[in-house]
Amino acid sequence: MTVERFALAAEVMAFYQSTITEADRLSSSADGRLELVRTQELLRRYLPGPPAEVLDVGGGPGVHARWLIEDGYTVRLVDPVPRHIEQARQVPGCVAELGDARQLAAPDASFDVVLLLGPLYHLIDAADRHRALTEAYRVLRPGGLLAAAGINRYASLFEHTALAHLHRESVERSITGILKSRVHDGKKSFTAAYFHSADELRDETEHAGFRQARVFGVEGPTWAMLKATEQYTGDCLIDTPLFQSALTAARMAEPYPELLAASSHLLTIAQRP
Ligand SMILES: C[S@@+](CC[C@H](N)C(=O)[O-])C[C@H]1O[C@@H](n2cnc3c(N)ncnc32)[C@H](O)[C@@H]1O
Repeated sequence: MTVERFALAAEVMAFYQSTITEADRLSSSADGRLELVRTQELLRRYLPGPPAEVLDVGGGPGVHARWLIEDGYTVRLVDPVPRHIEQARQVPGCVAELGDARQLAAPDASFDVVLLLGPLYHLIDAADRHRALTEAYRVLRPGGLLAAAGINRYASLFEHTALAHLHRESVERSITGILKSRVHDGKKSFTAAYFHSADELRDETEHAGFRQARVFGVEGPTWAMLKATEQYTGDCLIDTPLFQSALTAARMAEPYPELLAASSHLLTIAQRP
């Protein structure tokens, strides 16, 4: 069975099973909402029109599954965390099952769209990420669409500068290590994780056989300022003028590849030939 062959790192399981509530992440803060709104608009721009069959791999508690089903898609969700599967099964119309991105139960060529919005950064070894991408390729129909997310290599630098942590020697050392190794050390409010550059996310996707991989900055260049302002003021900034400015900035940044490095998340959209 999938989860036995490719065991999820214990710290990733513990993080999602009991440390944080992933179900709230995209609705409880302004930067989370920014990620949700931008992911929605990028996916709606490139997905085939409904009805189409979507496999949401690493779909967590079903936040994206919910709006995709409301948009008219059929969604099957796969995640290795039992708590997420229980939560996703509460989403009307969502079929959810335990599984791992590296070994999908779905038959060959059985979906129009595969989402990988999470697994790639939790897979630190390149061979595991390649396996997840080739599994996505296998289960997609020819012409099908992949949308895969990475965390930006520079995200921690921007975040911990804006949050005024970087003057601490231990934080500076930790961030320097992430920049050099591309591996988040799991010490600051997350798990160990792999952080991509935009070029690397594109190359890994194309190496798995996908064509026309395009990479987008999800939150744009001002997400860290938005997050820090919200934390400093203690006010919810969702849908405020600062939020709208950050959203506009993310859209304005799209034509400029130099600005990809400033987003928190990267999203690649690619096609199975
Ligand atoms: C930050 S959450 C993202 C959830 C959701 N896709 C979203 O974009 O909001 C990362 C998700 O990846 C899942 N994940 C981690 N490793 C995975 C793996 N090897 N295979 C499939 N999913 C995995 C986690 O359980 C978690 O639900």
